[in-house]
Amino acid sequence: MSDWIPPAPLLPSAGGRLRGVLGGSALYDQPRHAEVRARVQAFVGSGAPLAVEVGFDHGMRILDHARRWPEIHWLGLEIRKRRVAAAAPHAPPNCLLWSADARTVFSALLPPGSVSWVYILFPTPTDNPRHLLLTPSFVSAVGRALAPDGAVYVATDVAGLATHTATLFDGWPEAPMPPMGPVLSRRERVCGRDGLPVYRLCRGKPLIEDAGNGTEAAWTGQE
Ligand SMILES: C[S@@+](CC[C@H](N)C(=O)[O-])C[C@H]1O[C@@H](n2cnc3c(N)ncnc32)[C@H](O)[C@@H]1O
Repeated sequence: MSDWIPPAPLLPSAGGRLRGVLGGSALYDQPRHAEVRARVQAFVGSGAPLAVEVGFDHGMRILDHARRWPEIHWLGLEIRKRRVAAAAPHAPPNCLLWSADARTVFSALLPPGSVSWVYILFPTPTDNPRHLLLTPSFVSAVGRALAPDGAVYVATDVAGLATHTATLFDGWPEAPMPPMGPVLSRRERVCGRDGLPVYRLCRGKPLIEDAGNGTEAAWTGQE
């Protein structure tokens, strides 16, 4: 899919709510979600450094990371409920696997400056703007949620998505890589097996809120 280009963006909806997001950005304001909201907020606000993996799929990687770094709290966000149900019983106490849309969670639940590391591994190169994860509003929400010394790491094997992502993160400073264990995500294993190039970007919190989303920036590496 080297010729992927981003779909035309959705127009902002009235009231500043996120469009295209499952349940909407006010989802967790509803009383029926009060319990899960409280559980996530307690986990996130524990005082431990917080790492978030977006779209963890089978969860092998985040489960390994959580066992390897027990002093870190690992929050996994995955929209596919069955994947979450299968992986969650294997999670140690410092790992919370949650069936939720990362766009909603970042925009509505994670406090400013609360996240040390965000991992976005092989996001889906969708043609549907409602399903697109990497948008200016999501990237802004990630920037707000990042701790001052935090970092966001994105990997993709889709050249067009790499270009799109670099544009969104333009102006964000280069950052050291976050903790990386030896267990690879499923897509990364496929890339290794098939010799596909992987484009990687690791950026720190922008100095100016809402930096980026403009012109193209360079990727840190390709293999
Ligand atoms: C192409 S797969 C990559 C899976 C895995 N990260 C890997 O590297 O093999 C993208 C994953 O992100 C999940 N996903 C897509 N949009 C999401 C969102 N808004 N919030 C949370 N997960 C999402 C999908 O369900 C899917 O599991």
